[in-house]
Amino acid sequence: MTDLKTIQNRIEKNYKHRAKIAKREGFEAFRIYEKDIPDFPFIVDVYKDNAVIYEKRDEEIDAEKFEHFGYIISAVKNILNIPEEKVVIKARKRQVGDTQYVKLEERNELISVKEYAAHYLVNLHDYLDTGLFLDHRPLRQIVFKSSEGKKVLNLFSYTGSISVMAALGGARQVTSVDMSATYQDWARKNFEHNNIPLKEHNFITDSALEYLEKASQRFDLIVLDPPTFSNSKKMEEDFEVEKDQVAVIKQCLRLLAPDGVLYFSNNKRAFKIDPAVLEMANVQDITAKTIPEDYRNPKIHHCFKITHKAKK
Ligand SMILES: C[S@@+](CC[C@H](N)C(=O)[O-])C[C@H]1O[C@@H](n2cnc3c(N)ncnc32)[C@H](O)[C@@H]1O
Repeated sequence: MTDLKTIQNRIEKNYKHRAKIAKREGFEAFRIYEKDIPDFPFIVDVYKDNAVIYEKRDEEIDAEKFEHFGYIISAVKNILNIPEEKVVIKARKRQVGDTQYVKLEERNELISVKEYAAHYLVNLHDYLDTGLFLDHRPLRQIVFKSSEGKKVLNLFSYTGSISVMAALGGARQVTSVDMSATYQDWARKNFEHNNIPLKEHNFITDSALEYLEKASQRFDLIVLDPPTFSNSKKMEEDFEVEKDQVAVIKQCLRLLAPDGVLYFSNNKRAFKIDPAVLEMANVQDITAKTIPEDYRNPKIHHCFKITHKAKK
C-alpha cells in the first residue's frame, strides 16, 4: 500500500535532483512528479516557489485516489517548504460525490520565472495551462542558440515564449502568429518584460493557416507548433495536425529561405510523419533531444527538424 511516506520520498528525491540541475543551468520552472507511482496519477510542476498539481486522469477519480491527492498536496508543501496558497491545483474532472476540486479562478496574477536568458510571465491560477509549456524548454534553447541575425517566424506562438528566446538569441526580426488576442497581448508583455523593443517585431492575431496562405516574406527559421486540433469561426475548415501536416509543412517550406530550418512540433500521442513530407524535404526526428530530463513521457511531444532538399 502506497502511503504518504512513499509518495513524499519519491517527490523529495526527484525534487532534490532536479532543483540542483535547474539551479546549475539557470531555470526556475520544472517538473518534479509525473505519475511515477501508478496509484498516484498526478503531475507536479514547480514554478519558482510555487507548485502546480495536475490531476491528469480522464475518468472521474474514486475516493481512494482523492485521498492520495491530499497526500500529494501535503508532500509538496513539506518538501518545498511553502504555504498552502502557493500550491495550485488543476483538475480536469471533479470527484464523484460532494467534494469538489478548486475551480479555475480569475486572479489575473502574473509571476515571473527565469529560464536561462529569459524571464517569463506565467499565470498559475486562471487557465489550465500556465503560459509556459515546460516540455519545450530544450526547443527554446535550440532556437535561442540558432537565431542570431535571423528572421524568425513562430506559428501558433501562444504567449510568445519561443519568440522571446529567438529575440534574446539575436534574431533580426521575430514574427509571432496566434489566433488569440489574449495570448498575443501576453506575448507582447513577455517581450517588454525582457526589455525587447516591440517595434522591431511583428505580432499577428490571425489564424496561422490563413497567414500561411497569404504570406510571401522569407524566413531563416520557422517554428511550427500547432495544437492537435483547431477550429474557429475564422477558419473555413477544421485543422487536424496529422491529417493536415503535408499542406501546412508545404506552406512553411514555401516561406523558408534556402538554408533555413523549420522546427515542427506537436503533441499528438501517436503522431506519424507522412511519407509525403519525407519526399518534400529533409526530415530529422529530434524528439529524443527535445524532451527535457524532468519529463518521464518520451512522447509528450514529437519534434522534427526540417530543411530543404538539395537541388539536383
Ligand atoms: C499548442 S499551443 C502552441 C504552443 C506554443 N508554440 C509554445 O511553445 O508556447 C496552441 C496555441 O495555438 C493557438 N491556435 C489554435 N489554433 C490556431 C490557429 N488556427 N491559428 C493560430 N493560432 C491558433 C492557440 O491560441 C494557442 O495559443
